[in-house]
Amino acid sequence: ARTIAVSGAASGIGRALADLLRANGDRVIGVDREETDVRADLAASEGRAEAVRGVLERCGGVLDGLVACAGISAPEPLTIRVNFYGAVGLLEGLRPALAAAPAPRAAVVGSISGTQPVDRAVVAACLEGTEEEAVRLAGEARGGTLYPSSKSALARWLRAAAVTPAWAGAGIPLNAIAPGVVRTPMTAPLFEDEATRKSMDDAVPMPLNGYAGPEVVAEALRWLIGPANSHITGQVVYLDGGAEAMRRGPEV
Ligand code: NAI
Repeated sequence: ARTIAVSGAASGIGRALADLLRANGDRVIGVDREETDVRADLAASEGRAEAVRGVLERCGGVLDGLVACAGISAPEPLTIRVNFYGAVGLLEGLRPALAAAPAPRAAVVGSISGTQPVDRAVVAACLEGTEEEAVRLAGEARGGTLYPSSKSALARWLRAAAVTPAWAGAGIPLNAIAPGVVRTPMTAPLFEDEATRKSMDDAVPMPLNGYAGPEVVAEALRWLIGPANSHITGQVVYLDGGAEAMRRGPEV
């Protein structure tokens, strides 16, 4: 059996993935601030260190797969801490354990929002500056740009990191699934108000089969971190019913 760590395993997409992996015979180490195997707050560096320690203890230093799924969508600087630094901290902290496995794989959950207008200064600080600088700039930015900024920065980090000796050189594919609208506790409030739902549908049109269930995202992640994926890396795969193709058009 392979041992896979999944952050955000207590709810939504992370929970669906943990259930799917377990049903297929994998061993899952859940990481979440809510009830799961390793409880830690990925918003803070101490919490990230606790998460890494907890996973290393449970996997004995050899990890076959890692999916950084934990995230929030609040229009606040905390979103940068969790979605960007929480994911990158977990990936970097557990990379040596992945490198020790025979067929390691890693993935993150990005978002179609990463293609929407971002705060460029915040994204640049994530990629080139310090966490405190990024969070300070986030405090000055429009709240609505912070979730897109966190996911854009994560996608950019991933594309650069994936092809380095640390990842590609160590035989670790590193990719993102970027969903459109998925029915989870995160999005439930968006469906309650007709005007909110309408503006969401305008921003993220999903002509193919509409909103997705979390188990659909879980299936795609399972393949990306499965043994069959030996050559896809550095990719942001939109699982969005066609939203990215519609909004960005045919240029690739
Ligand atoms: P959710 O709210 O159902 O699950 C998120 C999980 O992350 C929760 O279990 C929560 O406790 C955990 N988490 C949040 N902050 C944390 C922290 N500081 N430390 C540790 N754990 C923390 O949300 P959902 O929808 O399953 O989202 C999962 C991922 O998918 C997120 O990264 C989200 O941005 C992304 N996503 C979701 C979409 C949607 O439509 N639901 C669309 C695109 C991306």
